[in-house]
Amino acid sequence: MKIAIAASEGAPFIKTGGLGDVMQALPEALSKLPGNSVCLFLPYYGKIKRDSRWECEFVTSFAVTLAWRQCHVGLFRLKSRKKKLQVYFVDNDQYFDRDPIYGCLDDGERYAFFSKAVLACLSYLDFQPDVIQCNDWQTALIPVALQAEFRSSFPNTKTVFTIHNIEYQGWAGIDFNYEVLGYGGQYTETLRYGDASNFMKAAIVTADAVSTVSETYAQELQYPYFSHGMSSVLTQRASSFYGITNGIDTTVFDPQKSGNIPFHYTAKTMVEQKAKNKQALQLELGLNQDPDATLFAIVSRLAGHKGVDLLSYIAHTLLSRPVQLAIIGTGEAQYEQALSELARQYPGRMVVRLAFDPSLADRVYAGADAYLMPSRSEPCGLSQLIAMHYGTIPVVHATGGLRDTVPPYDPTTGEGRGFTFQSYNGEDFMGAIDRALQLYYDDRAAWNALAQKDMDLDVSWKVPAQAYMDMFHKVTGING
Ligand code: GLC
Repeated sequence: MKIAIAASEGAPFIKTGGLGDVMQALPEALSKLPGNSVCLFLPYYGKIKRDSRWECEFVTSFAVTLAWRQCHVGLFRLKSRKKKLQVYFVDNDQYFDRDPIYGCLDDGERYAFFSKAVLACLSYLDFQPDVIQCNDWQTALIPVALQAEFRSSFPNTKTVFTIHNIEYQGWAGIDFNYEVLGYGGQYTETLRYGDASNFMKAAIVTADAVSTVSETYAQELQYPYFSHGMSSVLTQRASSFYGITNGIDTTVFDPQKSGNIPFHYTAKTMVEQKAKNKQALQLELGLNQDPDATLFAIVSRLAGHKGVDLLSYIAHTLLSRPVQLAIIGTGEAQYEQALSELARQYPGRMVVRLAFDPSLADRVYAGADAYLMPSRSEPCGLSQLIAMHYGTIPVVHATGGLRDTVPPYDPTTGEGRGFTFQSYNGEDFMGAIDRALQLYYDDRAAWNALAQKDMDLDVSWKVPAQAYMDMFHKVTGING
C-alpha cells in the first residue's frame, strides 16, 4: 500500500512531545511491512535545516495559493538509503524558521499552508497514496484541502485523521476560510464550530476515518467530560472511529544498548544492573546515596492534564515515606515553581530538573524503581511504556491509554503490570503508591518478578502497525 503521512513534528529531526516519537516509529514500522511504501512530510523548520546531521537534497519549488496570495514551497528530501521510507521537508522560512515551533499568532495560517503544500508536493512527486494519514490539528486541513482543491489529482486517495490530543484543536476566526484557505462558502460551514473555525472538527467530519491513540481514549472522547467539545461530532463518526494503542521504538528505548545508560541490562540481569543505575542516578542528581529508598520518577511536560496538581497535593505525604522523587521536564511556570519549591524543602530526597533532556530521561527510566503518571486524562502515554520496558513499575491513573496498557497488579495472582487508581484524587493516588511501597518493602521477589514481566512485554510497534494496516485496508477497500 502507498501511504503518505503528514505531521508537524517527528523525531529524530524535531520533537516536543509524544507525537514526535510516534512520527519516528510508526512510518518506519509501516514501511517495513511487505508491499508498503511510505512517505513522511514534515515542515522544514530552521532547526532541522541548520542541523548538519540531516543531509537533504532539493527536489523542486513552486507556489501554493492561500486566498489571494502565492506562497513559496520548497521541497527537500532526506538523503537516506531507506527505499520504502522517504522523508520530505516542506520549506518556507517565513513560516517555519521559528523557535519554538509552536505558539505563534499565525499558527493557523502556517499549518494551513503546510497542509496545502503537502498535497501539492504529492501531486508534483506523482505519488498517488492509497491513504494519507494526518496527525493532530496542524495537519487537520489536509482532508478538507483534498476535497476542496486536490481531488482531481488524487481521485482514489482516502484520508485518516489521528487525534493524539483533543485539547489542541486549531481554533481560528470564522473568516479563516475566506482569508486563508480561499475555498467556497460550504467549507466555512465544514470548518465552523460555534462562531469560530475549528480545524479538528473539520477533519473529523471530512476524513474517511478518524482514529486516536488508544481504545479507552476512543471511548472516552465520545463523552463531554473528556472531549473538549468534540463528543457529538465524534459520536456521529462512531462507525469509522478507531482506537489503536501506540507502541514505542524499542531500538531507541533499549536498556540493553542505549548509549545514555551506564549499566546495560536485560530482564535477567535487571536486578543487579538497575541497582547500579540507581546509584549512578542518585549521584548525578544529587540525591542521597540510599539503595533502600524507593526512587520514584516522572519525566513529563509539566502541564495541568499530566496530574502535576495531584502530585503537588500529595507531595508532603509521599515524602513522609522512605522514598526519593526525581522529576524531569519543563512546562507551565506555576508547576515549575511549585515543584522546585518543594524540592528545596527536601534536599537529597527530591530533585526537579527543569529540562527537556532525552539522555537524562533515559538514565532516569533505567535508574528509578517506579514511575508516577497521575495524568487527569491521557490519550495514550508513552512514558509508562518506556518505564515498563526498563523494568520501572508504573503507578498510574486508570484513564485513556494508561488504562489499556497498565492493568492493575493483583498480589494474589501476580497478574497485572503496575499500580492504578480509578478516581482522580490525591487519597486514591497515595493509596496506589502505598500499595506499590508495600510490595517493594514486603516482598522484593514479587516486585522484581513484576518488573521483569513488564520488561518482557512487547511494547514495540509491531502490533500497532498491523492495526493501522487493518484500518487502512478497511478505509481503502484494498485487501491485505
Ligand atoms: C500526545 C498525548 C499522549 C500520546 C502522544 C502520542 O502527546 O498526550 O498521550 O501518547 O500524543 O500519540
